[in-house]
Amino acid sequence: MSDRINNIFTSIADVYDFWGHLFSFGIDGVWRKMAAEEAIADIDGYKILDVATGTGSIAIDIYKKAKRAKKRVEIVGVDFNPDMIKIAEDKIKKKKIKNICFKIEDAMNLVEPGCAYDVVTAGFLLRNVDDTEVFAEELRRILKKNGKFILLEMGKPQNKFLNMFFRVYFFIIRLVGSLINEKAYDWLTYSILAFDRKKMMDILKEKGFKDLKIKNLPFHIGFLITGIKER
Ligand SMILES: C[S@@+](CC[C@H](N)C(=O)[O-])C[C@H]1O[C@@H](n2cnc3c(N)ncnc32)[C@H](O)[C@@H]1O
Repeated sequence: MSDRINNIFTSIADVYDFWGHLFSFGIDGVWRKMAAEEAIADIDGYKILDVATGTGSIAIDIYKKAKRAKKRVEIVGVDFNPDMIKIAEDKIKKKKIKNICFKIEDAMNLVEPGCAYDVVTAGFLLRNVDDTEVFAEELRRILKKNGKFILLEMGKPQNKFLNMFFRVYFFIIRLVGSLINEKAYDWLTYSILAFDRKKMMDILKEKGFKDLKIKNLPFHIGFLITGIKER
């Protein structure tokens, strides 16, 4: 487990939702809803795991969308950071949501049994794990046959103009972020610029997932990686 990353999230847990929405002008919420929509689309089963659930936003979005679509779901959200999980638990208590269960677990070594989930989601985890290959192996282990995954992530936009725009925008975020939590916002901007989509797709392909797709989300800095565990 990465203590450095865990400490960063401990230091921003209280303000994570607030500053995330503000810095993204609310777009982060739209992206999570799109990930949740993908999670409940065309599923036969109902067992869903949200890895790196943080303050539980994706798990809650999945619950709300499933309720509206009258689909049965059982959602488990796991994260290695107890402070983020505490906020997630407070949120569902306040919203009186019963069928989400939050647990403390490391994405690199999940306690979940093998072949247990129809759908696995993970929002903004890939930039934060020590080894994406190990996580891809865990993903493969816990998904049922024909189970699908949805990974929401951020990385450099491939469009040159948008790329330039975000470099300037990140400079501003680092400047403002240094007044809130310098380490956290330096890491956020550094890890987004360093994330390699192609390498991630190669890893997932090598682990044997099929129907691999990347879908750019509004503003092209956020994207969804989806795929299926064939066997
Ligand atoms: C940027 S937050 C995203 C939280 C949430 N998915 C969302 O959409 O807001 C990243 C989360 O990943 C968690 N995380 C990072 N590495 C992890 C690991 N190895 N195992 C479990 N959680 C991890 C952090 O604690 C943090 O809550």
